Amino acid sequence: MRKPLVAGNWKMNGSRESVSALIDGLTTGLTQFAKDGLVNDIEVAVFPSAVFVQQVENALSSTNVAWGLQNICTAESGAYTGEASVAMAKDFGCKLVLVGHSERRAIYGETDADVATKVERAGLAGLVPVLCVGESLEERQEGRTDEVVARQIKAVLKNSAPESLTELVIAYEPVWAIGTGLTATPEQAQEAHAAIRGLLAEHDADMAARTRILYGGSVKGSNAAEIFAGADVDGGLVGGASLDVQDFLTICRAAG
Ligand code: 13P
Repeated sequence: MRKPLVAGNWKMNGSRESVSALIDGLTTGLTQFAKDGLVNDIEVAVFPSAVFVQQVENALSSTNVAWGLQNICTAESGAYTGEASVAMAKDFGCKLVLVGHSERRAIYGETDADVATKVERAGLAGLVPVLCVGESLEERQEGRTDEVVARQIKAVLKNSAPESLTELVIAYEPVWAIGTGLTATPEQAQEAHAAIRGLLAEHDADMAARTRILYGGSVKGSNAAEIFAGADVDGGLVGGASLDVQDFLTICRAAG
């Protein structure tokens, strides 16, 4: 059985104070859920801005909530101003790392080849790569969703060492649903997730069965349960709503 994962991508938001309040609220809420038997066995993770990783490590190291960076460098170390490496992520207790988020692809020009390198680097170092894929509105309107997502995933399957993919998580995040308040319908999400699992199955049946596929794109407390009900939806990658403790807790509950 695949364990559901709910992850909050905080993007470039927060302050020392708000991060502290968010983590306090989250850990208190999750502890209460556990006491009340409200959430089954799920994994919860947060992706703070890198500057807050030490603070997050201090606050979460004795809890079940995991954390990770929103991006890592393609290179191992050296003259890469502004970047953070896989080794740094590990040094600060990160368990996961986001790779190829659509904002990184669109704003910073990350290519499928960069993404494959990052997934490989993260996976080989023992981090869980969360590979983000998804089509633009134009691509969806042209009926090219499966083709675009397949291209993004195949680039990784082809170019990243197989040993780096054992714990791979895929986040299907349609670009048109990110930060727009527009959400894929549960049917659209399930359809895309099933296509992704089918693609993985062509590559490796075991991998298809074990790989968690998260949905991301305007997930909220009010729509999480219906989206997570899809057979191939194994949780969510949450942006805006992960900054609101109560909303994020509601989403965690919907996954458990
Ligand atoms: P929103 O939940 O704000 O749409 O963001 C989704 C996302 O990009 C998570 O990585």
